Amino acid sequence: MKFHKKKKKKTMYLLYKIVFLLILSTSSAKSQDPLGEFCNKNTNISIGGKLSTNIDKLLAELALKTPSTFFIATSYGDNKDKVYGLAQCRGDINTQDCSNCIQNATKQIRQRCPNQADARIWYDYCFLRYSNKSFIGEVDTSFGIFYFNVENVTDSQVFNKKLGNLMDQIRGEGVMAKNKGLGKGKSVLSPFVTLYALVQCTRDLDEISCAQCLAIAVNNFQTFCNNRKGCRVLYSSCYVRYELYPFFFPLDSAKTKPSNIGKVIVYP
Ligand SMILES: *[C@@H]1O[C@H](CO)[C@@H](O)[C@H](O)[C@H]1NC(C)=O
Ligand SMILES: *[C@@H]1O[C@H](CO)[C@@H](O)[C@H](O)[C@H]1NC(C)=O
Ligand SMILES: *[C@@H]1O[C@H](CO)[C@@H](O)[C@H](O)[C@H]1NC(C)=O
Ligand SMILES: *[C@@H]1O[C@H](CO)[C@@H](O)[C@H](O)[C@H]1NC(C)=O
Repeated sequence: MKFHKKKKKKTMYLLYKIVFLLILSTSSAKSQDPLGEFCNKNTNISIGGKLSTNIDKLLAELALKTPSTFFIATSYGDNKDKVYGLAQCRGDINTQDCSNCIQNATKQIRQRCPNQADARIWYDYCFLRYSNKSFIGEVDTSFGIFYFNVENVTDSQVFNKKLGNLMDQIRGEGVMAKNKGLGKGKSVLSPFVTLYALVQCTRDLDEISCAQCLAIAVNNFQTFCNNRKGCRVLYSSCYVRYELYPFFFPLDSAKTKPSNIGKVIVYP
């Protein structure tokens, strides 16, 4: 009883924080466009200042070094001009795609957040973030972006059961150190329909923190992804996605095409 009440309150709190919602069709979004960015407007800095110069140096290092390891958490500079950075590619993609994605991210983040010391950018294949405040190893689900298929499943009971089972399985994989934050898998729903899902934590997180981020993401499915044919949750510490078509590598041959996608941004 108490649990129920608490949950309802939390949902209302979340809804209160939604700033805008827009519906966009997949055809209008080019593959090189980021899925979203966050420029922390409370961390304005002057362009050309020391902190800004350090951000450029940090980004050059991230662009250079990320593709070989798929993950970097580092810092640049000293004292009050020190900046921390993290870049990561999704574990299932190839080195070339990782390299392209990080290159694009380093350019786009400076265009989109030119005078902020705390900025983040999301793509399907990679995530990049920097801040003058240390964040490495900390779970952050304060800012979230949700993408969802506007179509709903027909048999929600069976679907949600299968989705829940698949999510449990891949979350278990994702938190294991040897999997570097990645869990992915599929579940056959019928001879014609297969469910695909993937989770990815940033690799600076320990097992418990990764599990925490994934649990928050999956809990929010109820609010933003309920009965949807596909959904994506983008946080600064983890990425969770499921679809009724193949989207992770190695890629299955596609049976269904994605349709109209909606987007919700949840601010802290
Ligand atoms: C990066 O940009 C290039 C060209 O501008 C584009 O072809 C490529 O698809 C982009 N990659 C990603 C991962 O967005
Ligand atoms: C930071 O700069 C943006 C413009 O880039 C402005 O809209 C915003 O109000 C500024 N924030 C603060 C706290 O001054
Ligand atoms: C980060 O930079 C902002 C803007 O210059 C400043 O207000 C804030 O105190 C800095 N934070 C830290 C931890 O240095
Ligand atoms: C899917 O369900 C939601 C919530 O119940 C509803 O608002 C929406 O219109 C439905 N979408 C379609 C395409 O029927």
